[in-house]
Amino acid sequence: MGDRAAVKFYNLSIEERLRQIAGQAGLTAGERSALGPEGLSLAQADAMVENVVGVYGLPLGIAQNFLVNGREVLVPMVIEEPSVVAGASFMAKLARTGGGFFAEADAPEMIGQMQVLGLADLDSAREQLLARKDELLARAAEIDPVLERLGGGPRDIEVRPFYDTPVGPFLVVHLIDDVRDAMGANAVNTAVERLAPLVEAITGGRVHLRILSNLADRRLARARCTIRLEALGFGDYSPWEVRDGIIAAWAFAAVDPYRAATHNKGIMNGVDAVVVATGNDWRAVEAGAHAYAARGGRYTSLSTWGQDGSGNLTGSLEIPLAVGIVGGATKVHPAARAALKILGAANASSLAEVIVSVGLAQNLAALRALATEGIQRGHMSLHARQVAIAAGAQGDTIHRLAEQLVLEGMVRIDRAEEILRNMDAGKPGGQPAQPGME
Ligand code: MEV
Repeated sequence: MGDRAAVKFYNLSIEERLRQIAGQAGLTAGERSALGPEGLSLAQADAMVENVVGVYGLPLGIAQNFLVNGREVLVPMVIEEPSVVAGASFMAKLARTGGGFFAEADAPEMIGQMQVLGLADLDSAREQLLARKDELLARAAEIDPVLERLGGGPRDIEVRPFYDTPVGPFLVVHLIDDVRDAMGANAVNTAVERLAPLVEAITGGRVHLRILSNLADRRLARARCTIRLEALGFGDYSPWEVRDGIIAAWAFAAVDPYRAATHNKGIMNGVDAVVVATGNDWRAVEAGAHAYAARGGRYTSLSTWGQDGSGNLTGSLEIPLAVGIVGGATKVHPAARAALKILGAANASSLAEVIVSVGLAQNLAALRALATEGIQRGHMSLHARQVAIAAGAQGDTIHRLAEQLVLEGMVRIDRAEEILRNMDAGKPGGQPAQPGME
């Protein structure tokens, strides 16, 4: 107990946890305080959106044990739901039995769309656009010289005809733009707005919408992991039972959109929590992920689970990930800046690699629980802490009371108050409880 190295991160006080993380990540005093309640000032909030009257807090936890491409990563996660941070941390620990997560991200290419209306002949307009592709790309390159200098900029032009639509035929022109370390919405939206007159001049049509696509399928991130068979068993569950249970749970999501929606929601619990923590646009990431899940014409699982030749559990996940480390809230929000420093991503691609790994870990946490004891037990131990606090428990008693409630399978305020009264009166409160999710 006196051995500090043996003290689990989750058993430390908030102050001790922060001190440890700050030490590991080299946070300055300012960055440390950015993670506290005073993180985002009213003046900063007022500069971000309209009609500001306050700021809104959410818990920021650090997921532990992540090894991504051989790098130890501390993962900041912002989320209101209990069990997510603990679940990711525990699964990251299991994934270490197979070397951690192996992840990669495509070049940060975003798609900007232009809808061209009023064309008599789609095919000839398409041909004209493609014939002048170089000119279009050269014009697009002039729009953002900074991006060009950083090695990004326009990469390609695609033209897609839609012959039969509710408003008649139209063309959709895609500008493929490498946005480097940005999420890219601003760069791409500016580029398509500025390129539209040239598209009109070439086609004789009228460019209507000019906006990026959130189906960022040129900017995919993928992760895979292997969990050694022997690491899977626990309690009364054999490793084979857990492995096969996880694979059967995945098969359910692979064939049934009703289940796939929930399965993918579990993945996004992990993905969004890091996306939010780092100041990125989680609605864009959500939209991209779900559209990608339906790319084959039927909504399905974003992940895949199976086994390798030695019987170990293998998992993989592929999602579009339009996230950046420059621009927008990633630079303006002090807590997002501190979170990015903790995570230590050198560029947008390495951030995407961590995020997709967390999504895979989160998916595993949900499937492992669902395939065995159900998710309520894990959820309950954290919920029980909230009930214990509501019942009036303080300090150490919160933990003991919560454990007792879970042990009894009765996480209710009336029972919590009763146990608390017994504890205060020195009566036995119950037996020591089970270990938590971690
Ligand atoms: C709850 O937030 C997420 C789960 O429903 C995911 C799943 O069912 O796979 C547990």
